[in-house]
Amino acid sequence: MSANLARLIVRRCDDLARITDEPGRLTRTFASPAMRRANKLVGTWMREAGMKTRTDVIGNLIGHYAGQRPGAKILLLGSHLDTVRQAGKFDGPLGVVLAIACVEQLHRGKIRLPFAIEVIGFADEEGVRYQTACLGSRVLAGSFVEKDLDRKDADGISMQAAMRRFGGNPARVKQSRLNPGRLLGYVEVHIEQGPVLEQKDLAVGVVTATAGQSRFIISFTGRAGHAGTVPMDLRQDALCAAAQFIVAMENFARKTNGLVATVGQIRVEPGASNVIPGTATLTLDVRHRKDSVRLASCAALQKLAWRAAEVHKMKVVWQAVQQTASVPCSPQLSGRLKRAVKKHQREVAALPSGAGHDAAVIAQITPAAMLFVRCKGGVSHHPDESVSGPDVRVAFEVMNDFLRRLAEDYA
Ligand code: GLV
Ligand code: MN
Ligand code: MN
Repeated sequence: MSANLARLIVRRCDDLARITDEPGRLTRTFASPAMRRANKLVGTWMREAGMKTRTDVIGNLIGHYAGQRPGAKILLLGSHLDTVRQAGKFDGPLGVVLAIACVEQLHRGKIRLPFAIEVIGFADEEGVRYQTACLGSRVLAGSFVEKDLDRKDADGISMQAAMRRFGGNPARVKQSRLNPGRLLGYVEVHIEQGPVLEQKDLAVGVVTATAGQSRFIISFTGRAGHAGTVPMDLRQDALCAAAQFIVAMENFARKTNGLVATVGQIRVEPGASNVIPGTATLTLDVRHRKDSVRLASCAALQKLAWRAAEVHKMKVVWQAVQQTASVPCSPQLSGRLKRAVKKHQREVAALPSGAGHDAAVIAQITPAAMLFVRCKGGVSHHPDESVSGPDVRVAFEVMNDFLRRLAEDYA
């Protein structure tokens, strides 16, 4: 049965990869039509696995599998159902469908555990639509920032309008925090998105901590003008200022050990080949495993942006969109995961995550742990993202063992 379910996990990731907002490539963003279809499909899988489903105020899909007694504590499992632009199939969905398969295994065996299980498909982890990441888990952890409701997407649609259109309720984000007293913990299975497990030739590894991250929106405002008539020394070209900043940022990050800094999006206005750019707005994502280095680097990068603006005689606005600290995983839950891994693999690897995860947010209200699955070449946030069937089967069996042991200890 478990081999069949392991195959089903990969097939379901393939099915979800066909649900996209952009024909020809996988892009599924917060509260979009594709997210609605994904929630609908995953909801049917949850119900087939014996769960009762609900969608919360922000669009998180939650499946509840009752425990042996009413009012039993709840173990949370899951990951996110949104994706980046031009995504791979596994970042997020793997953790959701694998958790559903674990419940399905219990359901087929008519097994109830001493605790309930809730599988969550988070509504937004990537932060593609509004630049702010982990909107879904922030609502459940009670750390959602209400002023973010006024943020606008690239089409001018506010977050609260998008939520309402999706069937959510922006007025209730503050009341939707889960009650920590009812929770046993949260465990997320996720692809590694890096090369460590492949180098060690291991199928899975246990995560030690999630790195912190800072996200900014930076706007250079110069003066638009005629590309043929304004001499070079009289221009205030916003894109040239942004370009100077980007090159300086790259040099700075290369020189700072362990720092990664990325400008992933840039918008130029008015945006015509014969018009000097009047504004250039870019996103900046900065990460380091040590919060002190990340914060000092952000201050240094801000100075580089001012310098680029000064050289080009223009204004720059530096807006911090989100800053999250590095978060350690729960030693207790991770210890249990490691004992389960030991049964299935010659070595137990413990490794940090450079990527952000819902687990880091849910850790605000309950102990959280993560299991990483090897991904080919460490490639992620790319259509070539891939995992092997046998590795998924190991992850699935580790999670089944983990649940069995937790149930024994908890009974
Ligand atoms: C999510 O994948 C992130 O780390 O940005
Ligand atoms: Mn991702
Ligand atoms: Mn992810």
